[in-house]
Amino acid sequence: MDTSHTKTIIELKKKFTEDVNSAKNIGALMLLHTEYLGRQGKINSLFKSIPIKENPQIGKQINDLKVFVTKELQDKTHNLPEGDAIDVTIPGITPPLGSLHLITQAIEEIENIFFKLGFVRRRYPEVDTDWYYAEGLNISKDHPARDDQETFYLGENVVLTAHTSNGQLHEMELKKTPPIKMINIGKTYRRQIDATHNPMFHQFEGLVIDEGINITNLIGTTEYFAKAYFGQDRKIRLRPHHFQFTEPSFEIDISCGLCHGKGVIDGVRCKLCKSGWLELGGAGMVHPNVLKNGGLDSQIYTGFAFGWGVERVLMMKSGLNLPDLRMLFSDDLRFLSQFS
Ligand code: FA5
Repeated sequence: MDTSHTKTIIELKKKFTEDVNSAKNIGALMLLHTEYLGRQGKINSLFKSIPIKENPQIGKQINDLKVFVTKELQDKTHNLPEGDAIDVTIPGITPPLGSLHLITQAIEEIENIFFKLGFVRRRYPEVDTDWYYAEGLNISKDHPARDDQETFYLGENVVLTAHTSNGQLHEMELKKTPPIKMINIGKTYRRQIDATHNPMFHQFEGLVIDEGINITNLIGTTEYFAKAYFGQDRKIRLRPHHFQFTEPSFEIDISCGLCHGKGVIDGVRCKLCKSGWLELGGAGMVHPNVLKNGGLDSQIYTGFAFGWGVERVLMMKSGLNLPDLRMLFSDDLRFLSQFS
């Protein structure tokens, strides 16, 4: 008989006995089961490595070891103290639930307001050519929007769009014939960073084109939005402004929610608005050149457009009181989870 094999078997039994005695829970016993009795386990390896046919007694010794190991593991499993067994009745650990980000919530709220007016939601490229972004929108070569101090150029002719107005020409090309009534919400990029500016932010751009569209439609639509989003007591006003893709152009202001448009509270200047009004954003009647570049006859069709910042309107919402727009882009859950 080969005594070296017998020695190996005795040593393996000794090692198993140590292992099984130090196993403290079911998990450890399951691992030992795999380690010793599994298909690739130690006992099967012994069977494979020793020529059993020539050594039937060794075969019997390995078999005895297998019976021993099996029984030991069974006994130990049954005798484990209660506390170590898995209690399947204990409720599982509930993973923390996430929620929509504040900006996503604002986008949903904004689009729902415009859906009620019959607008369709669009998404147009964030990376676009100079034609859609500037040239086709009547923006001259020397305009700051064409300046790489303010705009992220990806190539001579390709930009990370600094406004969602590039969607205007895309929409005209897509629809071909009015009526057009879209709300394009997307990410926009500018080389700016401070308490009221982030290099990446979101804009929502409205575009309405049809026969007979005029400034009263622009006023009615933007006023509807302002009241639905900020509150029925708010008012809007138009100030003349200049954009190259609209004529005439305006800045739209909304009455301040803190001083109710008065500019003073208890004889002291309102610290939020100083004048009774807060700036909402730009708007205007679509320039005839832009209609032409979109393939539309400006003798037949007219339209209005506006483009405002999602983060800005969100910050202007009463009660939010955010001192810095960049907080919206922080990953601090103590801040974000307040709005879930
Ligand atoms: C525009 O971008 C025009 N395209 C808007 C427009 C569309 C006018 C259609 C007429 C017709 P402006 O550069 O003012 O306009 O930006 C619009 C809004 O984007 C601002 O009112 C502000 O709310 C927001 N905004 C601009 N830069 C930033 C920034 N860096 N971070 C956060 N919000 C910004």
